[in-house]
Amino acid sequence: MTERNEELRARDRAHVWHPFTPQSVWAEDDAPVIERAGGFELIDADGNRYIDGVSSLWVNVHGHSHPRIVSAIKEQTERLQHATFLGLTHRPGIELAERLVALAPGNLSRVFFSENGAAAVEVALKMAFSYWRNRGEPRARFVRLLDAYHGDTIGAVSVGGIERFHETYRPLLFETAAVPNAYCYRCPLGKTYPACGIACADELETVLAREGDNVAAGIVEPLVQGAAGIITAPDGHLARIAEIARAHNTLLIVDEIATGFGRTGTMFACEQEGVEPDLMTIGKGVTGGYLPLSATLATEQIYEAFLGAPEDHRTLYHGHSYSANPIACAAALANLDVFEEERTLEQLQPKIELLAALLKPLADHPRVGEVRHRGFMVGIELVTDRETREPYAESLQTGAAVAKAARARGAIIRPLGDVVVLMPPLAIREEQLTRLVDIAAASIAEVTRGR
Ligand SMILES: Cc1ncc(COP(=O)(O)O)c(C=O)c1O
Repeated sequence: MTERNEELRARDRAHVWHPFTPQSVWAEDDAPVIERAGGFELIDADGNRYIDGVSSLWVNVHGHSHPRIVSAIKEQTERLQHATFLGLTHRPGIELAERLVALAPGNLSRVFFSENGAAAVEVALKMAFSYWRNRGEPRARFVRLLDAYHGDTIGAVSVGGIERFHETYRPLLFETAAVPNAYCYRCPLGKTYPACGIACADELETVLAREGDNVAAGIVEPLVQGAAGIITAPDGHLARIAEIARAHNTLLIVDEIATGFGRTGTMFACEQEGVEPDLMTIGKGVTGGYLPLSATLATEQIYEAFLGAPEDHRTLYHGHSYSANPIACAAALANLDVFEEERTLEQLQPKIELLAALLKPLADHPRVGEVRHRGFMVGIELVTDRETREPYAESLQTGAAVAKAARARGAIIRPLGDVVVLMPPLAIREEQLTRLVDIAAASIAEVTRGR
C-alpha cells in the first residue's frame, strides 16, 4: 500500500533534521509530504495540490517536470553521471561555461563550478583574497551590507548580517566592515525613500576612504536583499556602490544567486543598472531548479593572477567531489534553451505588471506595513501598527501562521520572519498568479484579524 502523508510524517519525525526548522515546532506541524510536481503545483502523498508560491525556495524557473529539462537529465544520466572536474573535463561543463560567459554582464570570462550558493560565495571570497595576495598586495578585509545574506557556511556567514541567523556564530567568523543597506522602510540612516538609497551607498565611500588599501572586495545582493525580507533598493543604489568600489580600486562581488535567471525581470539584476562586477555568483535558478549547481564567474584579470608555476602556489586551492556534475550541467543547458525557446523573459514582463496590480490592494491592509516587489520577488511586511511600524512579537510567529493558512488554501509559501514572501516560477500562468496573490491576501486577513 502506498504510504500517505501521516505515515511518512511519522517516519520523518523519527530521523530527519530539517534545515532552518525549529524541530520542536516541526514535530507538531502537519506539513505535507511532497511526492510529485507538475507545472506550477506540488502534489502531496494524499493527492493534495499546492501552488509552488516560492519556487521551491526560489529555484524553480519554468515549472516542474518540464519535458525539455527532464529529458536532458535522462539523456545525460545514460551517458555520464559523474566524472571529477579535478584533472578532467567534460562536454556539458565546457558548453555551460561558454553559455554562461556569453550571458554574463561585463567582462566575466571564467567559470568555476560548485554545487550550492554558499560554496560559490566561499569561492568568490577566496578568489578576491588570493587575487591580491598573488599580486603581492595582500588585502584581507571584506565589506558587506547590513542585513546581507550570502549563505550558511562560515565564510558566507562572515559577510552576512542577519542577526537572527548569524549572531550565534559571530565568535567563529572573520570580521568585516558593514555598510548601511537601503532598507527605506526602516532606513539605518533615518532617511526616507528614495533618498535612503544613495545616502546608504555613499557610506561605502567613508569605509573605503578609511580602509580601502586593505579591502579585498565588497559583496552585494543586487537590487534586492532576499533573505533579509525582500528589501528592494531604490534605483541607482547598486550603480553607486559599483562606482565607489571602482573609484577605490576594490573588487566588487555581485551575488546573483537569488536574483539571477530572470527573477528581477532581466537575466541578471545588475544589468538593470549597467553594473559590471569583478566576480559574480550564481546558483538556484541556474538548472531551472532541478539539480544543485552554482558557479563563481570571474574576469580575465582576476583569473590571470592565478597563473604561474605550480610551486609558486598561485593555484586556487578549492574544489568539491561533485564540482560541475555533468547531469546538473545538462539540466542547466536545457534551462537556458527553454529561456530562449519559450522567450521566458519576454513573457514575464506583462506578468510582472499583473503582479504589481494584484498586490496594490494589499498595501492598504491595516496590518501590512509595506509591500515590496521587484520583478517576481515579493515581500509583504506585516506590522501591528502602520503608524509606528511596530513589528509583531516574535513569539506570535505571525508570518509562519500566514504560511500555514495559505497551505490550507492550496499554496506553499515560506515567510522570512513576518515578511510574507511570494516568488512564483517565472513561467507561472496568469490565473495561477492571481490565485496565489488571492490566497496570500486571504491568509493575511485571516491571521491578522484580532492580532
Ligand atoms: C543572495 C544569496 N546568496 C547565497 C545564497 C545561498 O545559496 P544556497 O542556499 O544554495 O547555499 C542564497 C540563498 O538564499 C541567497 O539568497
